Amino acid sequence: PLLAEATRIAREFDYPAAQVQRGVAEYIRQSNEGLAQENTTLSQIPTFVTAVPNGTEKGLYLAVDLGGTNFRVCSVELHGDTTFSLTQSKIMIPRELMASGTSKDLFTFLARQIEAFLRIHHNEHFEAHQRRRREGKGEEELFDLGFTFSFPVRQYGINSGTLIRWTKGFNIPDAVGHDVCALLQSAIDDLDLPVRVAALVNDTVGTLMARSYTSPGETGTLLGAIFGTGTNGAYVEKLDKITKLKSMKDAHFDTSTGEMIINAEWGSFDNQLGVLPSTIYDRELDADSNNPGIQMFEKRVSGMFLGEILRRALVALHKDSKVDLFSNVSITPEGLLYRQWGLDTSLLSVVEADNTSQMTDIKTALKDHLNIENASNEDCQAVKILTHAIGKRAARLSAVPLAAILIHTGKLQTDDIVDVGVDGSVVEFYPNFEAHLREALREVKEVGVEGDKKVRIGISKDGSGVGAALIALVASKDENLKN
Ligand code: BG6
Ligand code: GLC
Repeated sequence: PLLAEATRIAREFDYPAAQVQRGVAEYIRQSNEGLAQENTTLSQIPTFVTAVPNGTEKGLYLAVDLGGTNFRVCSVELHGDTTFSLTQSKIMIPRELMASGTSKDLFTFLARQIEAFLRIHHNEHFEAHQRRRREGKGEEELFDLGFTFSFPVRQYGINSGTLIRWTKGFNIPDAVGHDVCALLQSAIDDLDLPVRVAALVNDTVGTLMARSYTSPGETGTLLGAIFGTGTNGAYVEKLDKITKLKSMKDAHFDTSTGEMIINAEWGSFDNQLGVLPSTIYDRELDADSNNPGIQMFEKRVSGMFLGEILRRALVALHKDSKVDLFSNVSITPEGLLYRQWGLDTSLLSVVEADNTSQMTDIKTALKDHLNIENASNEDCQAVKILTHAIGKRAARLSAVPLAAILIHTGKLQTDDIVDVGVDGSVVEFYPNFEAHLREALREVKEVGVEGDKKVRIGISKDGSGVGAALIALVASKDENLKN
């Protein structure tokens, strides 16, 4: 009965072709709405980035990247021949800074990391700057920095934008509505660092730019997408379709390409749940989250949430007196299985990857992640059935925005390859994520087998740092943006 019950729950995560098709139609509707108006479920944020790179860009730039889990500081030397060298340091963001401190605490922490990085990797430049200032000789040349800030920001130009809302695990209320570039610049100035924040970039935009630099083609890259702690995408849109830009009269941008990158913020696709699949586990996860009712697509797809969905399904099985899950194991209500966010999504990748008969990796992972020792083979199989269903639904859901953007931009009408850059722990580590995604993509009638063949998906690992450097380069050349 355990496996039968696990299979019954797993079926609740089915996401059949007809629903994918409905999802795509609704995504296209919501994306058009977002291009025309503010405050829609899909934000469709104009980024003021109007050109993608072609691989010939050159120079040394700094980039910092505040993503979901890590903070990264990098210096990027663009060689101008589609290659680059990257020096980077990466640190986990302390939990207390994510959700209980003030914005000043967070941005001071970020500036201190930049200072430490400069001292280690660019100390000469750093010292020269300090010396010149002391001697009153004016400033040493400043580093231009691209700031990858992976949260929804209403942009007012390439180097300014106010935080709309926090997502993923962050919640620092006093930052909402403030210009995050200005907050970072002021923390940098407090430490007297030779750095100017030249560009504000979403990680998806950075990924798109980096992919475009490293694999320039006839048609350029269409889409940059993240399937990591959160999920989101940025794509190249025709300026005349972004009708809400007309109301942003003071915005300055170059119109010569006739295009602009749009940050979709697709994590909030269909917050009203018109078309998204919903199980009791999804609903309870949302109700207990710190942002109920928003990021509803993300809550079904991304790494921050998949482990929690699985945990809730396992708890339901464990509580069910008609089946025996973990019956040889002592599980207390204080144990990790019963703790919100107690199950890290990386467990799903291990479980999905273990195809051995004794399921030793699954057993080790249950022990490491949940402190569950002596799980039986049947327990492991039940975990596997649920994991597979949750992961597969996430991958199939991920086909929805991709198909919709392919159709909406008309990119499948030509014979050209359509290039897509992706990054993030889910697409990188969850086995067969791309295969499941592509299967659903082929089921969309406007895409089909032929359309799927035209889509080239490539990992742009840690690409957003390079992307931010590229945007800082464009911005630093634009006299109108100099403060
Ligand atoms: C990193 C990018 O590689 O991937 C970040 O540099 C991005 O900008 C991140 O946010 C997403 O992946 P994850 O799994 O860390 O959320
Ligand atoms: C969340 C953020 C978005 C980001 C994505 C991936 O959805 O709101 O800005 O791109 O996570 O990191």
